[in-house]
Amino acid sequence: MDEMIGTVGRIDGAIPASHRDCRVPEAPADDGEKAGPEGRISSHSHASSTARQQEMIALLCVFRLSLPGRFTYISRMTRLLESWHSLTLRKRYHLLNYLVRSRGYTRYLEIGVRNPRITFNRIRVARKEAVDPAPLAPLGHVMRSDDFFSMMDANGRAAEFDLVFIDGLHLADQVERDVENSLRYLSPGGTIVLHDCNPPNEEAQAEFFDGTQKVWTGTVWKAWAKLRATRADLSMCVVDIDLGCGVVQRGSQTCYPAPVQFDQMTYRFLTSNRRELLNLVSAAQFLSLEGRTSPLLKVSENVLLTGR
Ligand SMILES: C[S@@+](CC[C@H](N)C(=O)[O-])C[C@H]1O[C@@H](n2cnc3c(N)ncnc32)[C@H](O)[C@@H]1O
Repeated sequence: MDEMIGTVGRIDGAIPASHRDCRVPEAPADDGEKAGPEGRISSHSHASSTARQQEMIALLCVFRLSLPGRFTYISRMTRLLESWHSLTLRKRYHLLNYLVRSRGYTRYLEIGVRNPRITFNRIRVARKEAVDPAPLAPLGHVMRSDDFFSMMDANGRAAEFDLVFIDGLHLADQVERDVENSLRYLSPGGTIVLHDCNPPNEEAQAEFFDGTQKVWTGTVWKAWAKLRATRADLSMCVVDIDLGCGVVQRGSQTCYPAPVQFDQMTYRFLTSNRRELLNLVSAAQFLSLEGRTSPLLKVSENVLLTGR
């Protein structure tokens, strides 16, 4: 706040002529001359302190008068900063690393890894585990996710994960099971991220990858739709990056009226309800929901409030 007033003050260094009129004329020099030495000092001091006060008022006047213009400028700058800020969230691993950093997560699980160099190795977190029945590089758990969770249950494993990234078999019923199992092992403030929630076209969301699709998201969106329709105890949004990264946390949401049978969910239904069904948000909106507005915005909000 102080810094901003300082900045505004510097920007305002050249006071417009109309605003200079707010200044009061200085006290005439002979006022003090007529009094004795003490009187002169006190009178001069009084005059200068009055002048200082009036100058202060004049400056405040200038500050307040120039606030709307300044605020527009600050808003524009802030918007620019916000878009720059959201550029830092373009890929799934950016989002995952952001969640690790901002929430202080230490335990990460990735379901479906394939090439660990693409995502798994990029996650900067204290402890990570990976599950994949056919990874391209050696991994901890070479098995299907169902078997991994059965093993966890059998071992009575108490370990919890703060962050689970689900990117295994892209079929709705498997994704639904992966979410349910992950929720059972999710720490209280934990988060699940699902890749491929937002198919760009009908072919991409075909049940099977036939080698002709440029991108294949599978039917992940249908599992997402069912959770949006049935789980009021979760908080869910899809960040509109990298084919849709769904973010799931414990919390609350208003359930969206969608069919709950996967075979009744048509692509047409998705296209007509995409934004609300997925609860689709841009990276910038996600950051702002997270309270991650730029420091400049916070300062400019303070300036606006103080100016009122
Ligand atoms: C799309 S790739 C994963 C991509 C990786 N997460 C990334 O960000 O680059 C899908 C992987 O899921 C694995 N997979 C298939 N069925 C699975 C299952 N039932 N459980 C766990 N992983 C599975 C496949 O072997 C494949 O390596």
